[in-house]
Amino acid sequence: MKALILVGGFGTRLRPLTFSMPKPLVDFGNKPMILHQIEALKAAGVTEVVLAINHQQPDVMLNFVKDYEKKLEIKITFSQETEPLGTAGPLALARDKLVDETGQPFFVLNSDVICEYLLLEMIEFHKTNNAEASIMVTKVDDPSKYGVVVTEEATARVESFVEKPKHFVGNKINAGIYLLNPSVLDRIELRRTSIEKEIFPKIASEKKLYAMVLPGFWMDIGQPKDYITGQRMYLNSLREKSSQELATGDNIIGNVLVDESAVIGEGCLIGPDVVIGPGCVIDSGVRLLGCTVMRGVWIKEHACISNSIVGWDSTVGRWARVVNITVLGKDVHVADAEVYNSGAVIEDQASVKPEIVM
Ligand code: GDD
Ligand code: MG
Repeated sequence: MKALILVGGFGTRLRPLTFSMPKPLVDFGNKPMILHQIEALKAAGVTEVVLAINHQQPDVMLNFVKDYEKKLEIKITFSQETEPLGTAGPLALARDKLVDETGQPFFVLNSDVICEYLLLEMIEFHKTNNAEASIMVTKVDDPSKYGVVVTEEATARVESFVEKPKHFVGNKINAGIYLLNPSVLDRIELRRTSIEKEIFPKIASEKKLYAMVLPGFWMDIGQPKDYITGQRMYLNSLREKSSQELATGDNIIGNVLVDESAVIGEGCLIGPDVVIGPGCVIDSGVRLLGCTVMRGVWIKEHACISNSIVGWDSTVGRWARVVNITVLGKDVHVADAEVYNSGAVIEDQASVKPEIVM
């Protein structure tokens, strides 16, 4: 079985992390975002994943692919656009890679979504309904920034699909995970085109589009606040599924994930909802809550990080405070007792205004 992941975005809303790393490789729960998806696809029986990209891939991406093709025993290839083709055009471009003689359906995933993927259940759902296309949906409080799906309750058939609606039409939204029959490709022209605006409404009008409600958590983690919320949800689900992966101890509160190579000093208070990456050094008396501390970071004595992300190889000085949705990029050095309160900080420590990065 094949799958395509749409990785064409520039990740501007996750700057400054995406100044140093392509968004799909930004760590989430101590592994590259896209790895969560590739592992879920592999577990559902996918043997080949096509990454649909719209710009030249940096070496770091190529190396990642080489590494994980071996580790996961899965084929990963690129399909590169010469100009952005939107969310449907890339499928037409990758047509030959997606269709084989078996005529099986294939998965399509947005690259910035974290959830319990339940892809095997989706295959069952797709077959049972004899659907041409199935989409995963989830309920959210503010549907306006998503694609909203109205279904017939009894049959799960989609009656209408409205991308980023101006008026309230419902609170079930497109979760960015699709299972499509090869015939869907006959509906897509090789040009810039949107699957949400041009393809799904058409299939819905022909009564061949079905929506499976995703139980459990879901989050689009493409912006800092949602990334931190998504991390809390992810750690909660880890607690339910494999709690032995989470840290324990007198200084740990709630769900905390610590890489085994990280070193934590005396008298720290860590948690809830914290991820500490490989090679991190957390000095004594540090307070961490609701935050991500990425690979190679050094947090010095009595510093406090709250609801924030500390990028790779950064250092945070003694008694410093990094709070309230602050994102430090790679290699940022916060001086002793300095305070960062919301916004983004890049390498040379110039602050980037929140409205630019959100
Ligand atoms: N290859 C390629 N080329 N990929 C692209 C392009 C392109 O030109 N444009 C966007 N993408 C990729 C993005 O990288 C992302 O993985 C996916 O397509 C969706 O684009 P976003 O920019 O993240 O869209 P969104 O978050 O505003 O809305 C989408 O996701 C929501 C769920 O998170 C829509 O699918 C909504 O309907 C959905 O609710
Ligand atoms: Mg998105």
